Amino acid sequence: MKRYPVLSSIVLLGIAFGLFFWTKPVAKQPSVGGAVVASPLVTSAQPDYGTCVASADGIGKTFHGREISHVMGHPGIGWLERTEREKEEAPSKAIAALKLAPDAVIADIGAGSGYYTFRLAPLVPQGRVVAIDIQPEMLAYMKEEMRARGLKNVEPHLGSVTELKLPDASLDAVLMVDAYHEFDHPAEMLNSIKAALKKGGRIYLVEFRAEDPKVPIKTLHKMSEAQARKEFAAAGFRFLENRPDLPWQHLMVFEKP
Ligand SMILES: C[S@@+](CC[C@H](N)C(=O)[O-])C[C@H]1O[C@@H](n2cnc3c(N)ncnc32)[C@H](O)[C@@H]1O
Repeated sequence: MKRYPVLSSIVLLGIAFGLFFWTKPVAKQPSVGGAVVASPLVTSAQPDYGTCVASADGIGKTFHGREISHVMGHPGIGWLERTEREKEEAPSKAIAALKLAPDAVIADIGAGSGYYTFRLAPLVPQGRVVAIDIQPEMLAYMKEEMRARGLKNVEPHLGSVTELKLPDASLDAVLMVDAYHEFDHPAEMLNSIKAALKKGGRIYLVEFRAEDPKVPIKTLHKMSEAQARKEFAAAGFRFLENRPDLPWQHLMVFEKP
């Protein structure tokens, strides 16, 4: 090559040029929540993740093109426990739509203050509700409530952002209310949920309807049915139905085949 300096420069330039385009994402996806979302670089370690310009309520990380929202901190307990919640969201209708045997073990993932957990517990008198959250303050609040209500079949449980930390095939059902869109490692969480569910076990996913501009919730704290179905199908869950029972939210039902 030393005898052909011009040729070697051209070859080196060619290699650099090729490497640049090979490692560059090729497409831009439409904006989500006002941010421009770069098409995720597909690697075996993080198959469906990408990055974007973080919007005010988001973390700048995308999953199947959806920007993930910030986690609601424990100072938000007052909002979760607000008295108007029944009138606005009709949680009693959501709970009535769940099909649970009296001895079922159900995990309320992202349980928060336990608003749903404590309403589920009487439906599974021979079973239990595993109330999972990543904020110790939420678990402390639920433990106080358990004592005050004299409930024995609620099990507050500290999960991590990537896993439930439960034995395989130990759950009949999973409920996630207004929580899944906050998971910062949804692919890992869906895998962990799949392992912890029994075959035929159901996921009840409650999320504010992104399709409805009248639902007065911030964009990143809503999800569309199409987006949820895309994410859950990729994780290997079968979509069963989206129940029309609730005023503001989807109540989507998925099954572990
Ligand atoms: C908006 S709150 C909803 C609480 C409750 N589901 C309700 O509707 O009253 C969302 C909760 O999800 C929790 N969370 C976020 N990521 C989580 C994860 N990976 N695993 C478990 N909980 C998580 C947050 O700590 C927060 O308490």
